[in-house]
Amino acid sequence: MSRGAQMKSFVRVLILVQVAAALLAGGPVAAELSMGYYGMTCPFAEYIVRNVVSEALAKDPTLAAGLLRLHFHDCFVQGCDASVLLDSTDGNTAEKDAPANLSLRGFEVMDAVKEALEAWCPGVVSCADALALAARDAVFMARGPYYGVPLGRRDGTRSVASDTFLALPPPLKNLTLLIQIFDNVGLDVHDLVALSGGHTLGVAHCASFKDRLQADAETLDSSLAKSLGSACGGGDSGTTAPFDRTSTRFDGVYYKELTSRRGLLSSDQTLFESPETKEIVSMFAMYPDYFFYSFQQGMYKMGQINLKEGDEGEIRKTCRVINDSS
Ligand code: HEM
Ligand SMILES: *[C@@H]1O[C@H](CO)[C@@H](O)[C@H](O)[C@H]1NC(C)=O
Ligand SMILES: *[C@@H]1O[C@H](CO)[C@@H](O)[C@H](O)[C@H]1NC(C)=O
Repeated sequence: MSRGAQMKSFVRVLILVQVAAALLAGGPVAAELSMGYYGMTCPFAEYIVRNVVSEALAKDPTLAAGLLRLHFHDCFVQGCDASVLLDSTDGNTAEKDAPANLSLRGFEVMDAVKEALEAWCPGVVSCADALALAARDAVFMARGPYYGVPLGRRDGTRSVASDTFLALPPPLKNLTLLIQIFDNVGLDVHDLVALSGGHTLGVAHCASFKDRLQADAETLDSSLAKSLGSACGGGDSGTTAPFDRTSTRFDGVYYKELTSRRGLLSSDQTLFESPETKEIVSMFAMYPDYFFYSFQQGMYKMGQINLKEGDEGEIRKTCRVINDSS
């Protein structure tokens, strides 16, 4: 057997072993969540979400990135409770309006999703579940992996800009810090590398990779450095660059870019530069199927961070405001 073929069968065995282990352990589903959660109360919930997302992406495929990132920012701050979707109110600056403007997008898609859900089954499906489903559908429609999303999340009533500061990872090369932030929400180093693969979709603004161009340039491919430098030189804060060459397609190209030192953020490139994570990046670059599998597992875990328990929280009527705010 060639070395390539050997690696391939090794990866297959590795995946099988991990699947078997997950099955034997019953999977890490939080007690309150289940696959058939809306089976009796809103049987078409998943179809409704999928239809609205698919219409939105047909008009603007780049929104897949927006939806995936919204779900990530939701889960990392206050758990998956749709806190990221709440608007600011008099006297409260919400997560989405954190001073570091998060350039989040896809809010209008979530408005449309929720409106459709409310028309069919009013007051039943949480915004947090709707967002978890929308992110899953967005990944799949961008030709990424499909994974089951256990449901039953409840919506939170708190959304405070300053909650984002320590909870969200900064785009810097401090791997220790990235590992720590993921560990804080129960995600391990493998999850960190696999979920960073979300950057196979979408773009970043110059401000996010300014450090990469200056302080971190020794690990940056020179032709990319040149084009990024000229794109951002004008000082237009609206300028963006794609994370990889195929920014509307969910694939393994992001990791290939890292192996040729074409990672956009310092936090991306450091995954390949650091001995603790370099091998994982190389494996994902070589075996996109292995990345897909690890991404599914990571999303499954991420989708269950710090969930509300019992009757904590609520089922919001509109995703932008809490129910008793009038
Ligand atoms: C490892 C830690 C991470 C860091 C430091 C990070 C940082 C960033 C930054 C700075 C941007 C660009 C914002 C801008 O300039 O407009 C961005 C965009 C994005 N991030 Fe992350 N991120 C991380 C992990 C993740 C994860 C886990 C996901 C999802 C699974 C994700 C999904 C996305 C997507 C899809 C975009 C593009 C958004 C768009 O095009 O609108 N990121 N991220
Ligand atoms: C903040 O992000 C929103 C959404 O992408 C964008 O419309 C707005 O212009 C941004 N504001 C600033 C001050 O950058
Ligand atoms: C990186 O992050 C760790 C953990 O938060 C911190 O202790 C350390 O000082 C940081 N290193 C640098 C160079 O900023």
